[in-house]
Amino acid sequence: MRKIIMDCDPGHDDAIALLLASRSDDLKILGVTTVAGNSELENTTKNARKILDYAGVTDVDVYPGCDKPMMRSLYRLTGAIIHGEDGLGGPKIPEPITPVKEEHGVDFIIRTLRESDEKITLIPTGPLTNIAMALIKAPDIKEKIDRIIIMGGAVMDPGNITSAAEFNIYVDPEAAKIVFASGCNIYLNTLDISMKAVFYEEDIEALRAQGDKVSDIVARLLDFFASTHVKHFGFKACPVHDALCVGVLIDENLIEYQKTFLDISVNDPLTLGETVADLWGITGNEPNCYISTKVDQKLFVKMIQEHMKKPYHSK
Ligand code: BDR
Ligand code: CA
Repeated sequence: MRKIIMDCDPGHDDAIALLLASRSDDLKILGVTTVAGNSELENTTKNARKILDYAGVTDVDVYPGCDKPMMRSLYRLTGAIIHGEDGLGGPKIPEPITPVKEEHGVDFIIRTLRESDEKITLIPTGPLTNIAMALIKAPDIKEKIDRIIIMGGAVMDPGNITSAAEFNIYVDPEAAKIVFASGCNIYLNTLDISMKAVFYEEDIEALRAQGDKVSDIVARLLDFFASTHVKHFGFKACPVHDALCVGVLIDENLIEYQKTFLDISVNDPLTLGETVADLWGITGNEPNCYISTKVDQKLFVKMIQEHMKKPYHSK
């Protein structure tokens, strides 16, 4: 069974990523760390705890991480427009009962990697602040990281917060730069694929029709997420960006990748947070990551539908 740490800022699609991981027989979540992104840290932490408690995942702990990007203040506007004021707009989910942990998320990541006999996969689905801080504080952890599967960036297609940049990378571009320069084994799932792996109305209805508690909440989260995509982007289908990072561990046929060199724009206001990839190998730089090139939308929709109706069992 693959051991994973989920680092997230729930967020509708982060919440669905957590549920998907919790329902997979192949994945064991060692812990969930939270970061400021779609909303303030207090909200993203509460939302992570809320969704896990709701889905019966009370044996997976939540560790609050960094409450702001490394060098900038938190960009708040788009997160609130897309995910609602508290980061998880739409269905009313009961307040969590399980307490969050006191240990800082960055320290949890470092401790867990150092104590582990086997390599661990990191799945960051928010700004990369916690991951960059962990790599700076404890560079020795690199040897314990199997891979980092990131949701972020846009290479072929436009960004979703500026024409050049995707939200997660834009919010903390310096953190992203540190992570991509770290030498870790990195897989980057960009908007290029996540905006194609969408749920159409009938996919959401089929999920709702499954009739169980978790499928129902996911359908209602997608109703809200779909509505803000129509309002904000005029986009009439619902992406579930973050869950792709979990999905590709459940079935590697979900996403195709290309090995490439990639860097982050941090100094130019026009392109701040852009993921600049050397797709034709013209810079002479050694490849430092795999970027997503293709996704199987039908496989993804089916995977979410099938996993949401599975009962949770502790691993
Ligand atoms: C990313 O930004 C957030 O709004 C989502 O949760 C996802 O991680 C998409 O750009
Ligand atoms: Ca996210």
